[in-house]
Amino acid sequence: MRVFEALAAACEELRRHDVVNSRVDAEILLAQSLGKTRSALLAHYRDEVDESLRQVFFARVGERCRGKPLQYILGRQEFRGLMFEVSPAVFIPRPETEFVVEAALEHLADGDLKLADVGTGSGCLAVSLAAVLPRARVWATDLSESALQVARRNAARHGVERKIVFLQGDLLKPLTPVLGEGELDAVVSNPPYVGPEELSGLQKEVRDWEPRLALVGEERAPSLYARLVSQAQVRLRAGGVLILEIGYSMQETVCGLLGGGWEPLGVTEDLNGIPRVVSARRV
Ligand SMILES: C[S@@+](CC[C@H](N)C(=O)[O-])C[C@H]1O[C@@H](n2cnc3c(N)ncnc32)[C@H](O)[C@@H]1O
Repeated sequence: MRVFEALAAACEELRRHDVVNSRVDAEILLAQSLGKTRSALLAHYRDEVDESLRQVFFARVGERCRGKPLQYILGRQEFRGLMFEVSPAVFIPRPETEFVVEAALEHLADGDLKLADVGTGSGCLAVSLAAVLPRARVWATDLSESALQVARRNAARHGVERKIVFLQGDLLKPLTPVLGEGELDAVVSNPPYVGPEELSGLQKEVRDWEPRLALVGEERAPSLYARLVSQAQVRLRAGGVLILEIGYSMQETVCGLLGGGWEPLGVTEDLNGIPRVVSARRV
């Protein structure tokens, strides 16, 4: 079987399983299976595909047909120009979450910063901030130990493992034994915010493959955000900033949690014009 024949057969199979972007996915999976770039693959589209590699390729196409996200098959996802390892233990970093990093950078002056990333998942927020803020130290928490293992590898991959302490536990509670109150300069978080009743309406790639703990968490979003805001109020220094990603239509609920102890810094919209990131300064 030649490259173009393998691609045509895979496309057909992916289309039969309603995979959108079937051609692109087929090309990416074949390039990965052959250890080539996509452009090198297309430049050699008449080459014969080795039988063992053909089997690897069609096994991956089969996974994609069953709904496994391409990122989990490839084991990677880019975030703010850095490549992150991902596995089904972690939420796949989304482009809209890059606005959390942008908002944090907008409101932080460089210096000896102490930051917390709550619900770190792959570590995309903690690692991105540690990579661009030379003197920052980050405490990153997650309930999931298997997510933290991936996050630790991502920190090492980008050379920031000495700047980040990964702690297993609920929200900011794991910081209690290691950091005093009022010490943090920033708390960033992209918490789980999908309602359990919304799960069935999600794409099967998300619903059936991404960790439930990352999507719906262990409690309803308004209660989790409320606990996070009050813990952040204790942990942040006066003037420290809280940067929270929010779900569709959550702006009023989350902004409503910010009472007299907070100065609102604005709500950032994502590229689709959806209010996505709430920023506030502790007074
Ligand atoms: C939506 S994912 C975000 C992951 C990553 N920060 C990102 O933006 O891609 C939410 C993360 O929060 C973690 N999580 C859920 N409930 C938590 C809690 N109560 N305390 C700490 N982490 C929690 C999940 O395990 C998951 O890794």
